[in-house]
Amino acid sequence: MNNIVVFASGNGSDLQAIIDACKETDNTRVVLVISNNPNAYALKRARDSEINSYCIDDSVLDSTDVVLDLLAIYQVNIIILAGYLKKIDDEIVKEYENNIYNIHPALLPKFGGKGMYGLNVHKAVIESGDKVTGATIHRVCTEYDTGEIIMQETIAVLDDDTAETLRNRVLELEHIMLRKLILSL
Ligand code: GRF
Repeated sequence: MNNIVVFASGNGSDLQAIIDACKETDNTRVVLVISNNPNAYALKRARDSEINSYCIDDSVLDSTDVVLDLLAIYQVNIIILAGYLKKIDDEIVKEYENNIYNIHPALLPKFGGKGMYGLNVHKAVIESGDKVTGATIHRVCTEYDTGEIIMQETIAVLDDDTAETLRNRVLELEHIMLRKLILSL
């Protein structure tokens, strides 16, 4: 059985795509949602789907032992970072090596790294003049937005795109890709 924890800081539409995809398979489920943001809509989505969720204060999140204990209690064997704005501690990354995934709303290695989150990413894509963007699912290693790329899909950047319209279309693509990831586990 694949027992997933999803870490999410915001709206959680990616989390929702993961929850929905799990309904199509018997061997993968979301057992836990962790957020660092008490106002994250992701927490409400977890509650609505009767998934245990924790909003954990930064000072506690920084205590690797507490997080690892929690993951052990829920027998978590896969971590997915879906719009999680805090860095995952290296010790956790090492413990879950090869079983920790992140989704990024651009074609890494372009538009990755520090400060490249939310609308900043899509603004940078538009400013670059690139005509193609997309999303990337990659394994997480101790460097931000690096690690083996396991899925990358593209969409066109339209002449009249704003950062918001681009974000929305990339998000739709992300949801399709996350479904594929879940069904491939
Ligand atoms: C997504 O674009 C994801 O790629 C990025 O953060 C966003 C999260 O969106 N890491 P949501 O909160 O899941 O709707």
